[in-house]
Amino acid sequence: MILAQLTDTHVLNPESTEERWVDNNGRLEAAVASLNGEVVPPTAILATGDLTNNHQPGELDELQRLLAPLHPPILALPGNHDDRAELRVAFDMPWADDDNLSWCVEVQGLQIVGLDTTVPERQHGEFDTHREEWLRDALADTAGQPTVLAMHHPPFVSGIEWMDETMLKRAEVFADVIEANRHVLRIFCGHLHRPVQTAIRGVPTSVGLSTVHHVALNTTESAPIEIIRDPPGYQLHHFDGANWVSHTRYIDTGELAFTPSWAIADG
Ligand SMILES: [Fe+2]
Ligand SMILES: [Fe+2]
Repeated sequence: MILAQLTDTHVLNPESTEERWVDNNGRLEAAVASLNGEVVPPTAILATGDLTNNHQPGELDELQRLLAPLHPPILALPGNHDDRAELRVAFDMPWADDDNLSWCVEVQGLQIVGLDTTVPERQHGEFDTHREEWLRDALADTAGQPTVLAMHHPPFVSGIEWMDETMLKRAEVFADVIEANRHVLRIFCGHLHRPVQTAIRGVPTSVGLSTVHHVALNTTESAPIEIIRDPPGYQLHHFDGANWVSHTRYIDTGELAFTPSWAIADG
C-alpha cells in the first residue's frame, strides 16, 4: 500500500488579497494532478493539516474544489491554520468529537491514527491530558496491529527556533506514550514546511513536504524568520506489511524524467 502525504497546502479564497509568497492554490492543483498521474496510485491521501490558510470565508470551498479530482480517499487532520468546525463539516471522517478532530481509520490492514494537536486561535501544538488519554486508548485498541500515527505539530525540536516555539507541548509525555506502544511503526507530521526526519524513542518520524512556501533552513540561535521557495511536492510512503520506504515527489519544477545516454547504449 502507498500512503501519499499532502501537507500544509494553505489554500486561499481565490478572491483574497492576502499576502502570499507562492501560488498556493495553483500548487495544490498541480499536486493533485501529479497524484492522479502516479503510475502506481496511492491507496489513500494523508492530509496533515494547515489545509486552508487563515480560516477565511471561501477557503474551504476552494480546498474541496481543488481536492475533488483526487481518486483515493482523503484522511484529513486540522492544523493551526484550519477551522476545526469547518473541517469537521467538510470531511467525512470518524472524528472523536467536536473538540477533538482525532480519528482512527483502517486502510488495507494498516491502522492509521490521526491525532488532532490544534487549539483554536493558537499556533502551538497541544498534547493535554485529554488528548493523552485519547491516544493511549486509541493505541490500546490497535495493539498488536501495524499502526501509524499522523499529526500536524511535530513532537520534536527541529533546531529552527522560531518554528520550534509552536511544536507539540508535553513532547516527553507524548514520547512516553509512543515508547509504551511498540506497534506504532511511523509518525507523520506537518507544520514545519520543510522535510525533516528524526526518531521518537526509535520510531521513524518525519515531516512532509509542504506544497506551498518553505521555511528557510537556519538552525543558528535566534535565527531570523525566513521563508524560501524550495520546490514543492508530497511524499509517498510505501508499506509492504513489514517495511516502509518513503519517496519524495517534487512537482511543478518543469523537469521531466529522461533516460541517460549510457542507459540507452547499454539497453
Ligand atoms: Fe503550515
Ligand atoms: Fe501549522
